[in-house]
Amino acid sequence: MISIKNISHKYEKEFVLKNINLNIKKGSFVAITGESGSGKTTLLSIISTLLKPTSGEVLFENINYNNIKNIDKFRQENIGFIFQFHYLINYLTVKENIQLANENATDEKILEILKQLKIESLINSYANEISGGQRQRVAIARALINNPKVIFADEPTGNLDSKNSLNVFNLFKELIKQGVTLIVATHDKNLASLADINIEVKDGQL
Ligand SMILES: Nc1ncnc2c1ncn2[C@@H]1O[C@H](COP(=O)(O)OP(=O)(O)OP(=O)(O)O)[C@@H](O)[C@H]1O
Ligand SMILES: [Mg+2]
Repeated sequence: MISIKNISHKYEKEFVLKNINLNIKKGSFVAITGESGSGKTTLLSIISTLLKPTSGEVLFENINYNNIKNIDKFRQENIGFIFQFHYLINYLTVKENIQLANENATDEKILEILKQLKIESLINSYANEISGGQRQRVAIARALINNPKVIFADEPTGNLDSKNSLNVFNLFKELIKQGVTLIVATHDKNLASLADINIEVKDGQL
């Protein structure tokens, strides 16, 4: 589904990633681990269209990212993002933040997803009125609203206690069953242990 070909990336002088190759099959659950600063977020950003690598290419169902004309449409149709800095807009409600990803999302559909994450009572709360863990779950709900083919998640359980992490794990397992491809960067050993494929980034390589 996703082919990563000879990806290298540097922000300044030093290469953070060096000649990385990886193929990810549809429906797989991939965990990317590695020390802080090893390049997990960089790799995830490149595979998810958010960052253009210094060299190399990424193909999504044989579409080369370099050839995508309308990147917003491509993302909306294919990708769910759950990122470390989950850009919720403070002056919008939970519902409105989710509708940013899909303005036609119905209350019913939004509630269904919020229920799975145990935050349905927050639907009309403003994003700046809820806790960090609740915000993280809103970001997960937003990533799911378009039924994406692939979900990229950067430390999706980073702000959650063990009970809420477990909820997210169960939700992820359910998504995998439905054929969604899940690519997660994480320090969470429990989450990584659920993955089919564990990849460690070290010295710029896998
Ligand atoms: N925008 C940037 N500009 C310059 N250097 C950057 C930038 N983003 C990351 N780096 C550097 O690239 C390296 C890899 O960073 P990255 O964020 O990919 O690591 P990570 O594995 O996700 O770390 P963590 O576990 O702490 O989230 C680090 O040395 C970091 O300082
Ligand atoms: Mg990171």
